[in-house]
Amino acid sequence: MRDVAVIGVGCTEFGEHWGTSFRDLFVKAGALALEDAGVTGERIDALYVGNMSAGRFVEQEHIGALIADYAGLASNNIPSTRVEAACASGGLAFRQAVIAVASGMEDVVVAAGVEKMTDVGTGASVDMLASAADREWEGFAGATFPGLYAMIAKDYMHRYPLTREQLAQVAVKNHENGAKNPIAQFRNRITVDTVLNSSLVADPLRLFDCSPITDGAAAVVVVPLERAREFTDSPVRVLASAQASDTISLHDRRDISTLDASVAAGKRAFAQAGLTHKDIDMVEVHDCFTIAEICAIEDLGFCKKGEAGRLTADGATALGGEIPVNTSGGLKACGHPVGATGIKQICEIVGQLRGEAAGRQVDAEIGMAHNVGGTGATVVVHILGA
Ligand code: COA
Repeated sequence: MRDVAVIGVGCTEFGEHWGTSFRDLFVKAGALALEDAGVTGERIDALYVGNMSAGRFVEQEHIGALIADYAGLASNNIPSTRVEAACASGGLAFRQAVIAVASGMEDVVVAAGVEKMTDVGTGASVDMLASAADREWEGFAGATFPGLYAMIAKDYMHRYPLTREQLAQVAVKNHENGAKNPIAQFRNRITVDTVLNSSLVADPLRLFDCSPITDGAAAVVVVPLERAREFTDSPVRVLASAQASDTISLHDRRDISTLDASVAAGKRAFAQAGLTHKDIDMVEVHDCFTIAEICAIEDLGFCKKGEAGRLTADGATALGGEIPVNTSGGLKACGHPVGATGIKQICEIVGQLRGEAAGRQVDAEIGMAHNVGGTGATVVVHILGA
């Protein structure tokens, strides 16, 4: 297997893009990534696009071909593949690109993610998202993702010492980071009271415990490490690419407040890279709900079970803390266009490792990305190094 490097990244603003179509969002992110990499379209060998549900959100399928076409690459006849794993579609698209380059099959590969969710109302959106849970055992019984993660939160708070205020601190910290990120959907600072006084969505989760509904796209360019310096002076190495799966429904799990797929993918990534959690300088975790960030910090091994709430309240996960978590603002403040999120996490880590994160810059040489599909039925973890 060859070593792989990221040589360019690009991300649209995340938010409500009433004036930009699904395909134009992708083209914008792709063009930014190519420009950043110093690569022209004709040099691209393959394209992987993470997308969860364009068929339902914008009534468009056949996304691989559509994206290659609107990126102006149709006449090059390159292989272009859609990758779907619910909210982990982006992370998985990146993993496919890494595998393609590592194997020697392709040289210059674009991994991208795109989702346009706001063309439908919240009810329809929540129902589409719920199709990534177990439709027969969860969806038909009325469970949505806020409801499922609320069950995780209830179970966790029953068994471990996590207060409602500590949980709110996750959102406060992520909005603080998002306020410093020009692509974030929400750039407003909030307080614990903002979270505690926001409307109840699914007890104990309130509006400000939830990631929002978002439009957005992100893209990165990967090449063999040995060729990276042809394109850039600051390649970022892919040190590990790991994936794990678990039962699709929550009730079949051994333990609902530990995501075993996060534990497995994290362990595999550390083993591949020959690193431990102590070597990681920053981590982007999948905080689709505040409780998800608490579980992720623990499941990836950054602290023991039951300690992440206190760590968060003590500032250990803030910018400048012991282990900065979600410097981008995470899914909470940045927004969560489900197919694009996993690629945006890679963009954030590359930006941090290249020292380009401006007001939210941390001192980092090694970063980790953790992208979750559903309530943890798919988890993808990457480790990147400067
Ligand atoms: N955090 C903070 N503010 C939010 C927000 C969020 N998650 N979602 C919406 N808002 C704000 C809007 O900006 C808007 O503010 P304004 O009135 O000042 O303009 C207001 O709340 C109402 O927005 P609206 O779009 O009507 O919200 P909604 O009630 O329709 O939807 C949720 C709110 C929480 C139901 C929706 O965001 C949701 O379902 N989130 C979870 C998405 C999800 O499950 N993703 C997959 C994870 S696995």
